[in-house]
Amino acid sequence: MTELAPDVLAQPLSLRSGGRLANRLAKASMEEALGDASCDPTTELDTLYRRWAQGGAGLLLTGHVIVDRPHRARPRDVVLDGASDLGAFARWASSAASGSTQTWVQLNHCGRQTPRFVHAAPLAPSAVPAVKMLATFAKPVAMSEAEVEAVVDAFAFAARAAQGAGFAGVEIHAAHGYLLSQFLSPRTNLRTDRWGGSIENRSRLLIEVVRAVRAATGDHFGLGVKINAADFQRGGFDADDFAHVAVQLDREGIDVLEVSGGNYEAPVLLGHDGDEAPAKDRATERTRSREAYFLELARAVRGLVEVPLMLTGGMRSRAGMEQARAEGIDVVGIARPLAVDPTFAARILARETDGIAMPRLDVPRRLGALADASWYALQLARMGRGLDPDRDMSAWSAMLRYVGQDLLQAMTTSKRSLAPVSRGGSQRYAPPVTEISAT
Ligand SMILES: Cc1cc2nc3c(=O)[nH]c(=O)nc-3n(C[C@H](O)[C@H](O)[C@H](O)COP(=O)(O)O)c2cc1C
Repeated sequence: MTELAPDVLAQPLSLRSGGRLANRLAKASMEEALGDASCDPTTELDTLYRRWAQGGAGLLLTGHVIVDRPHRARPRDVVLDGASDLGAFARWASSAASGSTQTWVQLNHCGRQTPRFVHAAPLAPSAVPAVKMLATFAKPVAMSEAEVEAVVDAFAFAARAAQGAGFAGVEIHAAHGYLLSQFLSPRTNLRTDRWGGSIENRSRLLIEVVRAVRAATGDHFGLGVKINAADFQRGGFDADDFAHVAVQLDREGIDVLEVSGGNYEAPVLLGHDGDEAPAKDRATERTRSREAYFLELARAVRGLVEVPLMLTGGMRSRAGMEQARAEGIDVVGIARPLAVDPTFAARILARETDGIAMPRLDVPRRLGALADASWYALQLARMGRGLDPDRDMSAWSAMLRYVGQDLLQAMTTSKRSLAPVSRGGSQRYAPPVTEISAT
């Protein structure tokens, strides 16, 4: 192990785009779903980010913000497109800019991971079977060439709008089984045109998005990409694909490459095994310490790229974070701990604590990922209302409230939020389910 100075987490990081992170701790993205009925940011987001901006992390990545209105993961996900209220985004950016931290908007398109109560016929690279999770997801419709190209425009438009609102950067979400990750994976991308087949073709959409975002925002704006080190599914995106795409993204000059893994069917990102994870990966996951889920996989590309690597997933102790730094990780991503202690990063940096003990959500294994998504989302909503996190919240009541709220909000989210905003491309969308039932 290389000897490092004791302040390895406190060192600033100069970015290729000219900015500077105050230290090596980043708040990883957590979907807040705190949009209003038109999917614009509410003042609850201002309250939440004002708190996190004082919490010590050098970088805050927002929860995902959707670039294509019909493809949201939850009814009240925030959307950034031509119909958005840019004043609300500017207000959010200025709340998040307090303190020495900078905030980047994470941009996403959910593709086949859009639930059917948000969109009855979501677009995806190919018409592969629906995501298996009760009856939550519909079989996706394969995108036309024009629809793929419209995705590039949508990311570029949203990035430029985020810049105009005052955010310091954006992160493109190409992990966790959402649209860009679906294109990367040979399991969900069965296309035979220039967007599918070889890894060069499967990564074409991500690379075009990165280039379009750079062109729209100029060279002096933070740009990150979140990517899976592996999907942990048979026939999915694997470690070799990851190495290839990491090298390509490094050449594109992005500022930060955030490494995660898994998707809805294999929720390894949250430390849960997918049922279909190849036995060798599951065994590796089991024997690995609970910290740094993807450290081994990230380390494998360290020698291949110069881009700063951010590692997210399971980081809980200062020793674990320092170890990751010693092994070539530049930025440590922390998500769930900051939903129970928004000052955790500051306390680590000040050496007031050595780590955090996370609450144990006592539910059957199959419900583990839903319990995590629900319980932590409700903590964010509490902080948005100016309350403290509630560590004693029951996982069962959190799941019921989360699912119930989504179904209710699917009915009460305005029709404007269900229609795509056309920016000139020919877009072919099936009518969303709530519109069908309303007529
Ligand atoms: C409630 C919740 C919402 C999340 N939303 C997002 C998201 O919008 N975008 C994203 O890239 N990851 C999202 N994640 C995953 C986290 O960024 C992170 O990868 C994961 O929680 C592992 O990090 P941790 O062990 O520090 O929590 C979410 C996680 C949780 C618990």
